[in-house]
Amino acid sequence: MKAFRILIAEDDELNRQNLVDLVEESGYLAMAVADGKEGMEEFVRDRYDLVITDLRMPNADGLELLRFVKEINPNNLVILVTGYASVHSAVDAMKMGAFDYVTKPLKNDLVKITIERALSYVKLKEENVLLKGRLKNHPDLGKMIGYCEPMKKVFEKIEKVATTDSTVLIHGHSGTGKELVARAIHFNSERKDKPLVPVNCGAIPEELLESELFGHEKGAFTGAIRTRIGRFELAQGGTIFLDEIGDMSPALQVKLLRVIQEKQFERIGGVKTINADVRIIAATNQDLEKLIEEKRFREDLYYRINVIPIYLPPLKERGMDLPILANHFLKKVNKLKKKEVQRISPAVMNMLMEYPWPGNVRELENMIEMLVVMKEEGEIGIEDLPNKIAQRRIPATTQCSVDFPEEGVDFNNMVVQFEKDLLLKALDKCGGVKNRAAKMLNLNRTTLVEKLKRL
Ligand SMILES: Nc1ncnc2c1ncn2[C@@H]1O[C@H](COP(=O)(O)OP(=O)(O)OP(=O)(O)O)[C@@H](O)[C@H]1O
Ligand SMILES: [Mg+2]
Repeated sequence: MKAFRILIAEDDELNRQNLVDLVEESGYLAMAVADGKEGMEEFVRDRYDLVITDLRMPNADGLELLRFVKEINPNNLVILVTGYASVHSAVDAMKMGAFDYVTKPLKNDLVKITIERALSYVKLKEENVLLKGRLKNHPDLGKMIGYCEPMKKVFEKIEKVATTDSTVLIHGHSGTGKELVARAIHFNSERKDKPLVPVNCGAIPEELLESELFGHEKGAFTGAIRTRIGRFELAQGGTIFLDEIGDMSPALQVKLLRVIQEKQFERIGGVKTINADVRIIAATNQDLEKLIEEKRFREDLYYRINVIPIYLPPLKERGMDLPILANHFLKKVNKLKKKEVQRISPAVMNMLMEYPWPGNVRELENMIEMLVVMKEEGEIGIEDLPNKIAQRRIPATTQCSVDFPEEGVDFNNMVVQFEKDLLLKALDKCGGVKNRAAKMLNLNRTTLVEKLKRL
């Protein structure tokens, strides 16, 4: 049976330790952080069944943490810990979806009962989900994940443009989710019951692309043995997704321009003009303005398609979205491949966060799939990582880098200095977040805090 994992956010050290003890006595795994901000960071790094949070904390308070948890996973349960004076806020918290609250000073038995109640609820829900999962087993299409500011902006834009018929140009490096955005726009628009027809302009040979887009009449050219309907006609009433539009030849660019301007076209070799009621969404991972300078892309076409630009940031710039996505893919692949990998270890998650991800979300998804399939069950640890990720972090300090002078050294002084360097380096890497630094150093949080105090 899997052990339940409980995240505890409490700034008061005594109370925090008390909660950790209570959780561990009951046989569950506890992770403790000292403020709301650390709580948010920790919540997305790992899988938690329950969050217990103090109300008043520095950086972000319990209500902010509650809101964050509920936004990311509305099913996740939160128990609030509050002083008598703030029972009003506890009631507010219940309205915001907290499962329950306990008041300070903590009564251990009551806390344990509340935890049990919450966890039995979690169990029940899981069984329910499993049942439902067996009933209808279709993947959740078009679900995009993004909580960082740039992705929130992308979603706002998608919502706005979905209701219009405007041409959209999606720009982003490979694997950033361009196709997903095109799908989201189409399936949120009034055209959603009509076809969404993708055309990869980069993958279809130039001489075939024209007929692919506009179709041809029988006998239009050698080999045209029967009439063929093109993708613009197939997309009638719906949306055409022109992927890799930067690869389209100049001759074809002129023809596309005409469709956009006049909303009409003819099949190759045809005389009949066909009206195109088709919304155009284009995507590119190239810098089209540079292609214009190089005379490889028509400026007039650029202005016609770039009516509403949507830029997708690289994965590396999405901060906390990375662990959320990694855990999302873990769940997805487990389900799809019928595996039971429980979690990605925190040390691995740290490494994933340091890797530059040139292939963006697609590369992350493929990586998690590979890890889950190979691992099958249990926890993904550092030893499971491929070299390109694991080897990035062999610290220089594990090699012997000490200059040893002839006259000898002051051992104690050097050790203190080395310890200081290590702590500062870890803190620096973690943007000053002690919880994360402790994990990177494989230290207890309290030990780290004590060491820092001493320094
Ligand atoms: N925000 C996201 N949330 C969940 N999954 C995502 C997200 N972004 C991308 N993906 C997944 O990553 C993979 C790559 O996405 P997609 O094909 O849309 O990217 P792309 O930009 O079109 O890539 P390419 O340039 O290689 O064609 C897909 O499997 C997609 O489901
Ligand atoms: Mg694509």
